[in-house]
Amino acid sequence: MAPIEVITRAGEPRETQADTRVCGLFDGGSLTDPELQKLVDAGEAKASLKQVCVTHEDSPEDGRRRVIIAGLGKEDEFDAERARIAAAAAATRAKELGAESLSWAAPEKDGAVSGIVQGTLLALYTFDRFKSSKDEDEEGGSTSVASLEVVGGNPDEAEAARVIAAAQNAARDLQNLPSNVCTPEFLAARAREIADAHEAVSLEVFGRDQIVEMGMGAFASVAQGTYAEPQLIVLRYEGGGDGPHLGYVGKAVTFDTGGISIKPSSKMHEMKFDMSGGSAVLESIDAIATLGLPARITAVVPATENMPSGRAVKPGDIVTAKNGKTIEVNNTDAEGRLILSDALCYAVEQGVERIVNFATLTGAIIVALGHTYAGLFSNDDDWCGAVEEAGRASGEEGWRLPLHPEFADAIKGKYGDISNLGEAGAAGSIAAAEFLKHFVGDTPWVHVDIAGTAWGMKRNYVGSGASGFGVRLMVELARNP
Ligand code: BES
Ligand code: ZN
Ligand code: ZN
Repeated sequence: MAPIEVITRAGEPRETQADTRVCGLFDGGSLTDPELQKLVDAGEAKASLKQVCVTHEDSPEDGRRRVIIAGLGKEDEFDAERARIAAAAAATRAKELGAESLSWAAPEKDGAVSGIVQGTLLALYTFDRFKSSKDEDEEGGSTSVASLEVVGGNPDEAEAARVIAAAQNAARDLQNLPSNVCTPEFLAARAREIADAHEAVSLEVFGRDQIVEMGMGAFASVAQGTYAEPQLIVLRYEGGGDGPHLGYVGKAVTFDTGGISIKPSSKMHEMKFDMSGGSAVLESIDAIATLGLPARITAVVPATENMPSGRAVKPGDIVTAKNGKTIEVNNTDAEGRLILSDALCYAVEQGVERIVNFATLTGAIIVALGHTYAGLFSNDDDWCGAVEEAGRASGEEGWRLPLHPEFADAIKGKYGDISNLGEAGAAGSIAAAEFLKHFVGDTPWVHVDIAGTAWGMKRNYVGSGASGFGVRLMVELARNP
């Protein structure tokens, strides 16, 4: 998919060269163009969010031009998230109609420009690199949208939004790639590209032997069942500023079979997405470095497959994490917390002052919060508040769930210090969080469980596929830690 060009322009919306122009309509609002206002008066153009009405107008240069009137909902409720939703509805319809260039008249509201740019770029994302013939081609001619003009938009705001949406789409590409392509080494190669593209980013990658030598017995135990070389990927961004040294940690299980505690086959193919946290972390660093944000970030991505084999870790095995804690592996499918334990220890040793980790960690978080909110768990109210705020600001929202000593008790080990498995059917997402908490010491930390939001969201601008969830939130957090 070719990148979509984003430009801004001052002047009249009607003066555009685009084949399709979009104007937004607020509840109870009106449009300056009398012909368009007739459609509002007739009730044909509706103002509720996601509604679109298609019409045509005469354009001075090239005859007929398509106009989409996009519902924006109530004016006092409008924000960047609603702009994303409205823009996605308009872009989706425009694409169906064969539009090649869009022009949006930006409402003069906070967040409108970035929401329009992101909603459009995210909604027009496709992953078709394994299709021999692209859908568009079958219908004859190329009909993809190549450009977006935002009339009345601040150029810097539009460009920042474009960079962030492109990074989120890059994270979606990594998610969508099958596990035979997107291996741990493939992710490390992508991290290498990111580091090579930016002066302020450096990369260090550790392989299997080094993971073992560094004492990462929990990470190594997950990786021991697979032929694929595990990688501990460390990207460092030195963007200056006087904010805290941030640690971004992302689970990257490139395929989770469950290991010896093997998963049922019906939905196992979805487990290529079990690297979603890691992909969001990597691509957020690319966006942050492109924007040149003043921040210091150490990104740590433990990457491996989780496979059953003759040398795989077995239920009941006891392994030792980097901080010396012993772990009973009572279910080899609870592998995310194992690889994260060592990655979190590593981040703490690197001196990070605030940690946030993203992980498709538990099916139970889908039961609790569906595909709308990520689960948040934290040992620090202030830092959790900052993550919650970044979630609201970016439209990637989290909802905090509690920790409690009784939940901590539920993962006490029978033979070792802790077990990777809590009580069956009881607060599984919290048990996982209590497990991770053992590896962050006193460092303020937020665990973001994205098992429900990494894919299958119902938000129209990302659809139900891979969402790239976390990229926007992490960029926002780098701006406002
Ligand atoms: N990757 C899965 C969690 C998951 C499940 C993500 C469904 C997205 C959709 C994770 O490694 C896992 O298997 N967790 C187990 C933990 C259990 C064995 C304690 C789970 O959630 O069932
Ligand atoms: Zn698992
Ligand atoms: Zn997993």
